[in-house]
Amino acid sequence: MNIDILLGLQWGDEGKGKIVDVLTPGYDIIARFQGGPNAGHSLEFNNVKHVLHLIPSGIFHPDKLNIIGNGVVIDPSVFKAEILDLEIPPEELAHRLIISSRANLILPSHRILDAAYEFQKGNTKIGSTLKGIGPAYTDKISRNGLRVGDILRRDFTEMYKDHIKNHLLILKSYDFRFDLEEYEKGWFDGIELLKQFRISDTEYLVNNLAGKGNRVLAEGAQGTMLDVDFGTYPFVTSSNTISAGACTGLGISPKLIGDIFGIFKAYCTRVGSGPFPTELNDKTGDSLRDLGREFGSTTGRARRCGWLDLPALKYSIMINGVTKLFMTKADVMSDFKTIKICTSYITDGKSSGEIPFHADAHLEPVYTELPGWETDISGIRDFNKLPEALKSFIGFIEKATEVPVTMVSVGPDREETIFRNQNIGN
Ligand code: GDP
Ligand code: IMO
Ligand code: MG
Repeated sequence: MNIDILLGLQWGDEGKGKIVDVLTPGYDIIARFQGGPNAGHSLEFNNVKHVLHLIPSGIFHPDKLNIIGNGVVIDPSVFKAEILDLEIPPEELAHRLIISSRANLILPSHRILDAAYEFQKGNTKIGSTLKGIGPAYTDKISRNGLRVGDILRRDFTEMYKDHIKNHLLILKSYDFRFDLEEYEKGWFDGIELLKQFRISDTEYLVNNLAGKGNRVLAEGAQGTMLDVDFGTYPFVTSSNTISAGACTGLGISPKLIGDIFGIFKAYCTRVGSGPFPTELNDKTGDSLRDLGREFGSTTGRARRCGWLDLPALKYSIMINGVTKLFMTKADVMSDFKTIKICTSYITDGKSSGEIPFHADAHLEPVYTELPGWETDISGIRDFNKLPEALKSFIGFIEKATEVPVTMVSVGPDREETIFRNQNIGN
């Protein structure tokens, strides 16, 4: 049981990057298992903020191995930009990072297709990050993808051209203007950079190393409510963001999984379209956005904000088998006099604690109101020193979810983290 998983329980941006970075010293390997450059994982130390898209969040620790697993989709041009941004010498990075030969490539035309599909949808658009994620996973599943291992083949350029040809045929039926060449140069530059890294069948590597007692942390992207099967479909991403996705996205058996860490914010946010029952289109929502700096790490878009949604959180815990909860951003609500938590919904005049099948079902949240802590908590490092009102808020969540909150993050920096070892509800 040498592999733990860390994943988001809401609509993404729960603080995964920060917490993976904090946990990395306790692991040997950090491995991303799904998603692609739609992700934006921020972490902060020494007063510098870093945002990662494809590269696992353990990369700043020199002695750790980071793996981009087979379940990830990689855009070489984003990869290149990110590598250059890191300001770590490429030779050094090549020691820290390995890429799965089976990871699928995002082609320049995937980005164009993503934009064309969204344009076509008009008002019903998903609000994609337009990074080509949907079309790249579509090609993977329909067995039309190109994989990282293919870039080492002599006929790679021909393979690439064949794929593009198909995409251009599809694009002909869309009234959508595009410039493929604009993307292509950067993309091929990225391919050359990718070749300088170790590309391997990482499923062997992960299993061998875990078998020898090395500890692996599998890093999720997005969040459970954006999962292609269990999220608010069709307003989701195109991969399995849930714990099962770590098995398919790294090539590991469920037997090897130990802890499943579920991260959630003390409130909720969502970027893009789709249901958000506890959304606040008022001053409180604006305060959450301003105080929490809720603007997308990848697209810069303003995040929609609302109260914590317990039915959604409980659903995510169930789907993932979460063993430990990590709560972030309670510090954002330090000035709030009262705080609400949604405990159930009213739908069609009936009370329900379940997530409905239909994305357009009208859900009226039922709230419990709790007193706020009205204290700056960002300097606190000992769980016992947290204000009683915040401990009650945490206790309320633990009672409802029956999972212990074992970590509380009180700010974006590595240091602003409180670990706690104790049983549920104590
Ligand atoms: P991720 O996609 O789950 O890694 O999350 P993002 O990085 O997209 O968004 C989380 C944002 O909240 C980032 O700007 C983090 O620096 C910040 N953050 C993480 N944890 C905390 C916290 O406990 N308090 C505050 N105030 N900010 C946090
Ligand atoms: P991290 O890993 C928040 C959202 C998009 C859109 C939907 C589909 O940083 O938590 P896609 O580009 O996948 O076709 O977009 O999913 N989305 C995210 N929202 N955080 C993310 O990643 C996201 N990745 C995708 O806004 O609504
Ligand atoms: Mg993010």
